[in-house]
Amino acid sequence: MDDLRRHLIAIGDLDREGIERILETAASFESVQEREVKKVPTLRGRTVVNVFFESSTRTSSSFELAAKRLSADVMSLKASGSSVDKGESLKDTIQTLSAYGPDVVVIRHAAIGAALKTTGYTNAHVVNAGDGKHQHPTQCLLDLYTIREALGRLDGVQVAIVGDVLHSRVARSNIQGLLAVGAQVLLVGPPTLIPRGIEATGVRVSHEIGDIATADVVYVLRMQSERMAEGANYVPSLREYTERWGVTSSRVSPRQIVMHPGPMNRGVEIGADLADSNQSLILRQVQAGLVTRMAVLYDLVTRPYRDTAERPAVEVAA
Ligand code: NCD
Repeated sequence: MDDLRRHLIAIGDLDREGIERILETAASFESVQEREVKKVPTLRGRTVVNVFFESSTRTSSSFELAAKRLSADVMSLKASGSSVDKGESLKDTIQTLSAYGPDVVVIRHAAIGAALKTTGYTNAHVVNAGDGKHQHPTQCLLDLYTIREALGRLDGVQVAIVGDVLHSRVARSNIQGLLAVGAQVLLVGPPTLIPRGIEATGVRVSHEIGDIATADVVYVLRMQSERMAEGANYVPSLREYTERWGVTSSRVSPRQIVMHPGPMNRGVEIGADLADSNQSLILRQVQAGLVTRMAVLYDLVTRPYRDTAERPAVEVAA
């Protein structure tokens, strides 16, 4: 039989309705965060396994806390210090952890396609917490949540995504997710850091930082030096990058909101004072990460299978 388990590998796994359902669920978990006892029994007896082969602060901590606040049993494995250091493969690591019978496996890995592969090594639902420069769907959901909360809508909102789009899984997921909910996207950065032909997806492209002026949201990306091939000169120097494309207080108007997925290079892609200003939603994004990831875990466990409409037609014997 075909595998009808639901996973969250790319933001495109959710249609607009699915995205909105998760944002609503996330909002309903907001009140839990204000209680003295910040825990609900929703996923009691369920097991969530987090496997992070790549470094992470926000994503791994929020998935762990999200599972705990839903009362799930949670186990988090960081690649360093595990048998991955001894050369254990993705397949062996996932199969080993899946022997405990988890309901959800959350995985981050440097290789594109690692999360999708993981679905073949486990019976659990798989959530992609970042695979190379491919996708980071829960970052997209938490960003949509943050924008909707700040502006009261998503439809028609103008978002300028600034910087290293080429190496960014956050940008890939956010572009798709923003367009799916009716927002408009402008990509701004040096030609070397904007994928060629990306206009075909429905975004606009500019190489002039001044063009962020019309945006409601200025979304700043990290310069991802670790993904830039050694020796390749994507920008003449970081100093020059900052001069031409750095997002600073003088380049945004007070009516605009500023976001960044973290970790930030303060003083490189974003001005330190702007990051700490009232118009910055960066810490709100972190809080949104918690309720959004609670919602994603809840959504997968309580709606385990894809819609029957999507089920392949069953052959009826004559
Ligand atoms: C991002 C990531 O790891 O993809 N960070 C995150 O999850 N908050 C963005 C980045 O590393 O620049």
